[in-house]
Amino acid sequence: MQTKILPVDKDSLTEAKNIIFSGGVVAIPTETVYGLGANAFDDDAVRKIFQIKGRPNDNPLIAHVHKAYDLSQIVDEIPAYAIKLQQAFLPGPLTLVYPSKNKVSKYVSCGLDTLAVRVPSHEGAQAFLKEVGIPIVAPSANLSRHVSPTSAGHVYDDFNGKIPLVLDGGECVGGIESTVCDCTGEVPVILRPGLITREMIAEVVGACETYVPDLKKGEKVKSPGVLYKHYSPRCKTKLYACEDGENARLTIERELQNGQRVAVLCETNRVSEFERAGVKCLPLGNSQEEMAANLYKLLRAAEGVCDVLIGIEPKEKDGVMIGVLNRLRKACCSEDIAHEKPKN
Ligand code: TXA
Ligand code: MG
Repeated sequence: MQTKILPVDKDSLTEAKNIIFSGGVVAIPTETVYGLGANAFDDDAVRKIFQIKGRPNDNPLIAHVHKAYDLSQIVDEIPAYAIKLQQAFLPGPLTLVYPSKNKVSKYVSCGLDTLAVRVPSHEGAQAFLKEVGIPIVAPSANLSRHVSPTSAGHVYDDFNGKIPLVLDGGECVGGIESTVCDCTGEVPVILRPGLITREMIAEVVGACETYVPDLKKGEKVKSPGVLYKHYSPRCKTKLYACEDGENARLTIERELQNGQRVAVLCETNRVSEFERAGVKCLPLGNSQEEMAANLYKLLRAAEGVCDVLIGIEPKEKDGVMIGVLNRLRKACCSEDIAHEKPKN
């Protein structure tokens, strides 16, 4: 299969619509990361997404809808606080989880009695969702466990030959996936941190909690995606705390002596601490928003320039950085080598 990359326009939207209604999958831009989209009502199309991504079949998908879509068609109940959140933040990088049974393909929510719904603000995504007029399930358009894609090129790198079309809407400005917020209880609960922060939500509705799964109690995890190792570049990774620059430099020294190509991912204002011959510095930016926007792009860039990526955690730990640190830690966690490059 040829994979086309086309700008979002009248012709490509028609082509995308035809693919979706014949049970196919199309990659679409959003303001957070690119998504791999399919018809939420079509069992086979939804299963195809899991198969193409290599996604575990207990990790549910988000349904994306146009801003004028009537939500009551796919969810059972919308609490009053969720309406306030919709008004304050949508369209935008916030996914809300509602009670919902048997409204879309049973494969979407993997057996949960809920549905995650997102109204993206990206113009290209809105144009596409308007064109199709139905909910589109779309996980991030990366192979499972690889780094999420923030450009059409990233999608192409993971799925060339596996999907017919990537709608190119430019680089994603947000850079990390949407905040996922559960709206099935008394108060909203953040399941995945992102650009819409807990403070922003609490300011609108008075309260907002953060979900921490207690696996020891055998509790059923609300958002299975949080369990998986994620977002990993295909190189060895090591992560150091912000104050641990000295140890990071010792590791850099040792890796260089072992003949490894080393890259350092750190806040832009710390680059000079790690710069030296043989080390490629990948500056994350200085503001929280810059760091979110650059993270995945740099994790992917690291794959091409180093054998070992040394990450230095940024100093700030609040607001949007909760989401950025969550992704950075998952990218660099546990095993040294996240996974092998798939053989073609
Ligand atoms: O920004 C985003 O959200 C991107 C773009 C493409 O819209 N999409 C995205 O999808 O990140 P994905 O599949 O990579 O992540 C979806 C997350 C997972 O952690 C999943 O477990 C959670 O949302 N999720 C989906 N449906 C859920 C549900 N019914 N209840 C709880 N968590 C859910
Ligand atoms: Mg994902």
